[in-house]
Amino acid sequence: MNNSNENIVYLNGEFLPLSAAKISVLDRGFLFGDGVYEVIPSYSGHLFRLQDHLHRLQASLVQIRLQFSLDLKKWLEIFTPLLDETKDQYIYLQISRGVAAKRDHAFPIDTVPTVFAMCSDIKPFEGAELGVKVLTMEDSRWEMCNVKATTLLANVLLRQQAVEQGCAEAILYRNGYVTEGAASNLFAVIENVLITPIKTAEILPGITRQVILELAKNNAIQHSEESISLTALRTASEIWITSSTREIIPVVQLDFEKVGDGVPGPVFKKINQLFQEYKRCYE
Ligand code: PDD
Repeated sequence: MNNSNENIVYLNGEFLPLSAAKISVLDRGFLFGDGVYEVIPSYSGHLFRLQDHLHRLQASLVQIRLQFSLDLKKWLEIFTPLLDETKDQYIYLQISRGVAAKRDHAFPIDTVPTVFAMCSDIKPFEGAELGVKVLTMEDSRWEMCNVKATTLLANVLLRQQAVEQGCAEAILYRNGYVTEGAASNLFAVIENVLITPIKTAEILPGITRQVILELAKNNAIQHSEESISLTALRTASEIWITSSTREIIPVVQLDFEKVGDGVPGPVFKKINQLFQEYKRCYE
């Protein structure tokens, strides 16, 4: 590991400066968003829940019928040189179906996948301490949201709509039930129970979500995985959004209405403290 390599990235077997990393315009990731990705946090050089991220990656690859796999040792050979052990960072990893001879929706034959990885610093999310505002929106995404696909146009448009109204995230719903955020999972405290929507194809099985459920279980915090209606969400005393880059962010306004007392709540404070301790001692 070294400290001066912030702009070194990995592309198809090579480590090279970001500005020298180029892909063909015929890459299916560029033309079709035909690829999957992972975002893996690294705290002081320790990749957090790496096996979980790699399992989810494999599940995403299977779902999009892209045959590609590497063993843990090979992945570490890619990730480790990108990391700086003095920092909290995240690896962005993307695998596309590769460069085809011509643009055609159907899969090309014998194309080698494009594998790209880069590392960025995790910056404290602005407003996290006081809590953020969110807006609810109809979930306009496709029906395979459990796949971490690079095809993110709906997520981009939804997040942008929230940002343009001074909000940090769009909270999505289908048929009156909450799914997740545009780039995060959702938790709510309703009648003193910590609830998150069930894992279905309508949500990404978040690794942060999983860690929070484990922490709740191990610390006797009453919790449940169940559907949350929009109506029930509006009665929540606490709402949080969670992701690998933002960790756990309390929501203090939902559609410009106060959530609970309008400040980060006690269950958030407890779980966040547990999460911060856990991430620091995770090896
Ligand atoms: N996104 N749901 C969606 C739609 C997401 O894009 C993400 C994360 C999550 C949370 O998953 P995890 O806890 O494993 O990060 C849920 C990443 C951070 C991104 O797209 O940058």
